[in-house]
Amino acid sequence: MYTHEDLAQLQAQSLKMQGWIRQQTFSPESRKTLRRFSSWEVSELILRINQSTFRGRLAADPSLPSGEVEAEGRQRWYTLEEINELRRRMKINRKSLMPPRPAGKRAFRAAVANFKGGAGKSTVALHFAHAAALDGYRVLLVDFDPQATLSHSMGLTDVAEDYTVWGIMARDLIRETDRQNAALVGAESGTALPARKIPASIRDMGLDELRHHDFIKQTSWSTIDIIPSCANAAFVEFASAQYRHLNPEWTFFAAVSRYLDGLGDDDYDLIIFDCPPAIGYQSMNAVFAADALYIPSGPGYWEYDSTTSFIGQLSEALEDLAHGFGENFPAGKIALPKAFADIRFLMTRYEPGNDLHRAMLEAFRKVFGDHVTQNPIEMTRAVEQSGRFLSSVYEIDYRDMTRETWRRARESFDRAYGEFRDNIIANWDKV
Ligand SMILES: Nc1ncnc2c1ncn2[C@@H]1O[C@H](COP(=O)(O)OP(=O)(O)OP(=O)(O)O)[C@@H](O)[C@H]1O
Ligand SMILES: [Mg+2]
Repeated sequence: MYTHEDLAQLQAQSLKMQGWIRQQTFSPESRKTLRRFSSWEVSELILRINQSTFRGRLAADPSLPSGEVEAEGRQRWYTLEEINELRRRMKINRKSLMPPRPAGKRAFRAAVANFKGGAGKSTVALHFAHAAALDGYRVLLVDFDPQATLSHSMGLTDVAEDYTVWGIMARDLIRETDRQNAALVGAESGTALPARKIPASIRDMGLDELRHHDFIKQTSWSTIDIIPSCANAAFVEFASAQYRHLNPEWTFFAAVSRYLDGLGDDDYDLIIFDCPPAIGYQSMNAVFAADALYIPSGPGYWEYDSTTSFIGQLSEALEDLAHGFGENFPAGKIALPKAFADIRFLMTRYEPGNDLHRAMLEAFRKVFGDHVTQNPIEMTRAVEQSGRFLSSVYEIDYRDMTRETWRRARESFDRAYGEFRDNIIANWDKV
């Protein structure tokens, strides 16, 4: 017979192994670092200008960042910071290299969600974030999943649950309850609602004293920040049920949205959410805060089935919110019923040579029409391998694997990202 003690013992063994893998994966101080990018990558894949034009510009202006030449190589290698400086300072045919962003708009928020486990959510969120950063955007990632795949991939492994979506939600409960109670006092009479009490056990956690930016962590990518998650944040699903009981008028699903409303409009360009494989308090917060919904799905029939039930469940959950809270929902930047500027299905782990996959993509297109993205993400060994090393194809040095495999993988993610970016630009004005 086995008890929780045996499970704890097995976990202790596994943690030892985890520590070892991290040490092998990250830099010697066991912190993740970002590699440099070669002048070939910078010119052709990142800034998308001719290599000789690029070299000409560098030669003409010695004050531009000049990268670093490796011991036995001839190419120059640039940091992300240097690439961003080049992008800011260089003009090609008098055109800026900065990525488009409508003036006066807040960051665009995209949620990657599906309750099918292993659909490719974290892989898509990670790759889109990296591609966007290389494209010159400032990105905030929010990890809503206590499995914390995205946080680990971004190099954050020791996270306290106070600093996750759970902390944001608990802090929001305190603030919203205080706000509602204050409104009751102000209303003098005629209200049927009693003042709500938040127990000391919640108030004394000190969450209310955390500053807005305490939840945001830096990563090895200078233009990607993250609100990370951790296994203990799984508690949120239990805690939130209790919190709702403490204050049934608390619009629990809008906690993260309210938090993000408090960021400066120009702090970030894109905010990308990675969701857990479930519909619960955390994923509802992600979906509610999102301007666009990206639903990745593998190319199998069961995944199609599961995606179909996901949108059904989500539709019901959102309808419930609209009816349950429509009356006393505090005016924020997002209204009820929740409306998305865009909804897209994105096929992942797609093999163009596989008849079954092609048939499934056709079926998706037949059913969901224009909501299916044009560019599926292909199945690639580069990602399977990068999963093990907790890195995206953008982080992997192309010299560490077959150039053709790397290139094909990168092209597939680039095409999917390019379409994601075009859709965002087309919808940014709606937010
Ligand atoms: N394009 C791809 N090519 C090859 N392998 C892939 C690809 N996309 C995802 N995978 C692999 O599939 C597995 C699941 O991917 P991922 O973790 O992104 O899914 P998920 O939807 O986030 O899962 P979960 O529901 O557990 O959060 C991982 O091992 C990942 O490396
Ligand atoms: Mg995931």
